[in-house]
Amino acid sequence: MHTSTMALAGLAATAAAETIHGALVFSRHGDRTTKHFGSQVLTPLGAQQVFQVGSDYRARYLSSSSPHHIQGISESEYVPAQIYASAPDQPILLNTATSFLQALYPPLGDTVSAQDLANGSSVSSPLTGYQYVTLHGVNDDSPESVWIKGDDDCPVVAAASADFKKSSEFQSRLASTRDFYQSLYPLVHEVYPSASDLSYAKAYDIFDVINVEKIHNASSPAQAVTPTQLHQLRTLADSAEFGRNYNASQPSRSLHAGTLAGAVLSHLNQTAATNTPPASAAPKLTVLAGSYDTFLAFFGRARLTDASDQFFGLPDYASTMAFELFTPGETNDESMDRSALRVRFLFRNGTAGALRQFPLFGTGKVELPWAEFEREMQQIGVGSAEEWCGLCRSEAVFCAAYRDADRYDILGGGRGSVVSKGSWIAVVVVMGVAIAGNLVWAAMWLVRNRRAKRERMAGVASTAAVGGDSESARSYDKESV
Ligand SMILES: *[C@@H]1O[C@H](CO)[C@@H](O)[C@H](O)[C@H]1NC(C)=O
Ligand SMILES: *[C@@H]1O[C@H](CO)[C@@H](O)[C@H](O)[C@H]1NC(C)=O
Ligand SMILES: *[C@@H]1O[C@H](CO)[C@@H](O)[C@H](O)[C@H]1NC(C)=O
Ligand SMILES: *[C@@H]1O[C@H](CO)[C@@H](O)[C@H](O)[C@H]1NC(C)=O
Ligand SMILES: *[C@@H]1O[C@H](CO)[C@@H](O)[C@H](O)[C@H]1NC(C)=O
Repeated sequence: MHTSTMALAGLAATAAAETIHGALVFSRHGDRTTKHFGSQVLTPLGAQQVFQVGSDYRARYLSSSSPHHIQGISESEYVPAQIYASAPDQPILLNTATSFLQALYPPLGDTVSAQDLANGSSVSSPLTGYQYVTLHGVNDDSPESVWIKGDDDCPVVAAASADFKKSSEFQSRLASTRDFYQSLYPLVHEVYPSASDLSYAKAYDIFDVINVEKIHNASSPAQAVTPTQLHQLRTLADSAEFGRNYNASQPSRSLHAGTLAGAVLSHLNQTAATNTPPASAAPKLTVLAGSYDTFLAFFGRARLTDASDQFFGLPDYASTMAFELFTPGETNDESMDRSALRVRFLFRNGTAGALRQFPLFGTGKVELPWAEFEREMQQIGVGSAEEWCGLCRSEAVFCAAYRDADRYDILGGGRGSVVSKGSWIAVVVVMGVAIAGNLVWAAMWLVRNRRAKRERMAGVASTAAVGGDSESARSYDKESV
């Protein structure tokens, strides 16, 4: 009895300790079919995993009795302005975000959701008052695509990632694990036509095929893979994927972590800026669904690997990272003193275990003052799609707009001034600029191609980066979910 009184007192003390103003959660998809054959989909098991994780975030951020409840957020009824959710236009990630949102705002029930019509009858939404939380699907052709999947359509990332295969680490693991991979051939020969397909070069693919078979197919020969072998396959895949996504001395390998950092900063900054009364537009909770590539790149870039060796490993299905914006002490109004604002980072590995806080940027501090967080995130972050286009040398359609802007600038004619003429003279000017611009562009292209050739000859792997081999870059990167 004494202990329970103390426990209650402890809870009350925690409840009064801080005010959460907003949060951003980035989630990996749940269990899925193997990506070896492409067109992978979220399985019912995967949807349950993400739903469970979403329910736990609901308990943390929405429940009014939670000490981490977000100030002013609606507990049960979805309020569109308070939530922003986004995922790349890929079924598995869209469905992941949907499962999460279904748990965040479950159906209201027929009574609560019912609406009275003029003729006196009452109607509730389908599925016992289902709540339709808006989810923004982001197409590859949108500049918004850089935030969650900054590695897709980015030849510079693809080339840097491929450099991993030239490292001595890769070469020595390739040699030392050859026998191990070969020994698995009888168990996976239905998937891989030839034993030579089995090596560390396909570490993730092989782990994925076997892991998925072990979970889903009782009659698969892969059931004979022992727990020790599976663990070995997983840790080899860990090292291969971390190597592909991060290298401290080659920042371009983790450029996709830079865009994620940019997105996190911009979302939290909006919450911070607009929560000054009258409270307005910025969402209080942002939910993004992405792939493990982005997690690993971020773990490296934000130096989470300094905090725990576990961050060298692949995050389990339905893992989440959360960034919380808060002020110490309890306040009742939604205004906040920017100088008192703090940010903490949390990670939960799949559905097991707890959401735990970790220090970012090698600071050793689990809470950072806003100004320090902002400075560090800007340092590792990419702030705009235009910047991303430049860093990636991307051929993505939306990058053309920034190249056009450069053309005008080169010729000293601002885009704005051209547009503002609004007469037939402007049309002539635009055509002249465009023709001259194309000449300049062609010249730049020639220069870059010649530079690329020089670099190729010097053994620098920037071929894909400059040559615009975006199709192969795309198919390579698309495997990342
Ligand atoms: C009331 O209006 C709705 C929608 O038009 C209709 O479906 C329903 O049958 C009406 N109820 C009555 C009692 O007329
Ligand atoms: C990391 O990058 C450096 C410099 O490009 C390179 O020498 C090294 O081999 C790379 N290491 C890995 C594991 O890719
Ligand atoms: C399960 O594995 C067996 C043996 O490899 C295969 O024939 C069967 O198609 C698999 N079933 C599914 C649903 O993938
Ligand atoms: C944060 O918001 C302020 C406006 O409140 C703006 O001036 C600043 O540029 C923003 N910073 C970032 C990194 O988005
Ligand atoms: C998550 O769990 C996997 C094992 O399931 C492990 O390899 C990895 O290191 C863990 N990551 C973190 C950050 O705890």
